[in-house]
Amino acid sequence: MITGLSHVSIVVPSLDTAASRLKAIYGLSVGEASINEQQGVRLACVELGNAKIELMEPSRPDSPVSKFLERNPNGGIHHVCFAVDSVEAMCSDISGKGARVLGEGKPQFNVHGERIAFVHPKDFLGALVELEEHGVRREA
Ligand code: CO
Repeated sequence: MITGLSHVSIVVPSLDTAASRLKAIYGLSVGEASINEQQGVRLACVELGNAKIELMEPSRPDSPVSKFLERNPNGGIHHVCFAVDSVEAMCSDISGKGARVLGEGKPQFNVHGERIAFVHPKDFLGALVELEEHGVRREA
């Protein structure tokens, strides 16, 4: 079951440049960056209270995010992420209804160790969707 919006993710050519622009223009503070080796991204978040903005840059040349930047050199919205109570239950439910879950069923995790999965854009109205498991809602 989808329980909320976790974040909107934007690919940027440079995390540091993006962070300074968000700070200078909007007064937004970008948190500390961390690397997700499995996904090939270096990322940092802006906490908005009820959701986050996630900024991502490639952490290695063969990152899927590098291909995104080849097509969109200035960056852009990459995916939206919904919180779900169980990634496994959600994936089995939507797969049963014909939606394609990416990654060949291999368990994937975010930098906080939370279970995640991606749904094919064609199966969510053209938007790449990430599902993120929030067992107990963490306080901001
Ligand atoms: Co994300």
